Amino acid sequence: MTSATRRSGAAATAVPVLEISDLSVELSIGGRWIQALDRVGLTIQRGEVLGLVGESGSGKSLTALSIAGLLPGNARVAGGSIRLNGEEVLGKSEQALNRLRARSVALVFQNPTSYLNPVLTVGAQIAEIFELNPELLEAAGGRTRRREAWRQSIEALRLVRIPDPERVVERYPFELSGGMQQRVVIAMALVRQPDLVIADEITTALDVTVQAQILSLLAELRRTVRLTLLLITHDMGIVAQLADRVVVMYSGSVVESSDVRTLFKSPRHPYSKALLETVPTIDGGRTVFRPIRGAMPALTDPPAGCRFHPRCPDAFDQCSRRKPERLALDPGRVVACHLYEGGAVSE
Ligand SMILES: Nc1ncnc2c1ncn2[C@@H]1O[C@H](COP(=O)(O)OP(=O)(O)OP(=O)(O)O)[C@@H](O)[C@H]1O
Ligand code: SF4
Ligand SMILES: [Mg+2]
Repeated sequence: MTSATRRSGAAATAVPVLEISDLSVELSIGGRWIQALDRVGLTIQRGEVLGLVGESGSGKSLTALSIAGLLPGNARVAGGSIRLNGEEVLGKSEQALNRLRARSVALVFQNPTSYLNPVLTVGAQIAEIFELNPELLEAAGGRTRRREAWRQSIEALRLVRIPDPERVVERYPFELSGGMQQRVVIAMALVRQPDLVIADEITTALDVTVQAQILSLLAELRRTVRLTLLLITHDMGIVAQLADRVVVMYSGSVVESSDVRTLFKSPRHPYSKALLETVPTIDGGRTVFRPIRGAMPALTDPPAGCRFHPRCPDAFDQCSRRKPERLALDPGRVVACHLYEGGAVSE
């Protein structure tokens, strides 16, 4: 547990649903091992939505895949800890891991078609989950298991606000729009009653109206099923709308974590400030947004010191020499930037 979470009062006493500390992951690229995640840390309490943000290539999906045990073949965990409901995930046998993760974590990605089986109806796919996890049907009452699975599949579609679920359950994925397919995938994630849902850019491929509908569905599910969500996005607007807390990543490291309101009011890390300026605003009738100058460094050739220094408007001599340590600035706020050294306690 970080000193920041330790100081944040009552919430810190509960066992977090997810607690990642000092997670380092390496990738084998061109015959050598390259550090892709550098001591990543984050915590999610039950019922909380944590936004994980950063530009493309910052390490968000690798973090998600590490939690779900789905890292690519050329990746290895080089250190750290991932605890699900207090139980260490790293170092467990494959079988024990699969059991723990199947019970605890559901992942939803950007592209629903990669999840859905094109030759099975929506109902058959949801019912299959019940077949694989018979304990989910314990409350079957007098009904046959098959009928109960079908009934619960319809209920799952109703929960994610699919209109006319009795008919949609008979449909094949290709008969549904992208937004409806994504709702089906969310329903499939929820029927397993996971402790944690990881949503990785799930609205990126959708048009703006459908995106808004899915976001409002997630907001509703927070209330109805007390969703605990790791919400991965490069869009600060989505974070503002849904998340309680936010973790900002840059080039494989966490550069700032904070509650959302505080981050939007007073971002500390220069990269967080730059990311917030990418959110479009209306100025005199014109939509204005400022892209971040420069590009994320290649993993194979990162700059020395702070990896953001070639793009940072506030960089000074220390920045290209030393990697900044994480500093706990205020309760719940951690920043890795030389600007704050001396005014904060090192984690
Ligand atoms: N299997 C792999 N082999 C080589 N490099 C990889 C592999 N998987 C990821 N990477 C690299 O690791 C870095 C982090 O990737 P990751 O997919 O976690 O980024 P991301 O933050 O999810 O980006 P995006 O917003 O584009 O999804 C990137 O530079 C990416 O190119
Ligand atoms: S450590 Fe230096 S370069 Fe990095 S974000 Fe802070 S001021 Fe900018
Ligand atoms: Mg990604």
